[in-house]
Amino acid sequence: MNITIVGTGYVGLSNAVLLAQHNKVIALDIVQAKVDLITQRKSPIEDAEIEHYLAEKRLDLWATLDKREARPQERVARRPVADVDLDGTTANYAPSPKSTLGLAVAGDGL
Ligand SMILES: NC(=O)c1ccc[n+]([C@@H]2O[C@H](COP(=O)([O-])OP(=O)(O)OC[C@H]3O[C@@H](n4cnc5c(N)ncnc54)[C@H](O)[C@@H]3O)[C@@H](O)[C@H]2O)c1
Repeated sequence: MNITIVGTGYVGLSNAVLLAQHNKVIALDIVQAKVDLITQRKSPIEDAEIEHYLAEKRLDLWATLDKREARPQERVARRPVADVDLDGTTANYAPSPKSTLGLAVAGDGL
């Protein structure tokens, strides 16, 4: 399944790490430092399990600041499964192929 997670705080990142063991996960955030750390397989938050999973587990996880890159429609071009809309402020949970999911856990500022 392709999964887009909006927000890489404790809630988003812990879900991203767990789901990325068996799914293709892209995590969208607005903070460059967080995206950079996740890309380096380092946790932007203090959590022993997240740190362990990022460092040791095989994860299909990448992070981005780019909403377009996180849009599953864009991922269709690279990966042939997707269908969740991010309309700029929210993720719509409207998967038409049953193989796509979007989670918005970015908090009140989303
Ligand atoms: N942490 C908990 O135990 C808990 C429990 C219940 C509910 N919640 C709720 O879940 C949500 C997330 O919680 P959290 O602890 O992970 O929050 P958090 O503040 O630690 O993380 C939110 C993340 O979202 C990112 N973000 C903010 N606006 C964004 C945007 N427009 N696009 C992309 N990313 C954006 C922030 O940079 C941050 O990394 C909150 O609404 C919180 O109230 C949290």
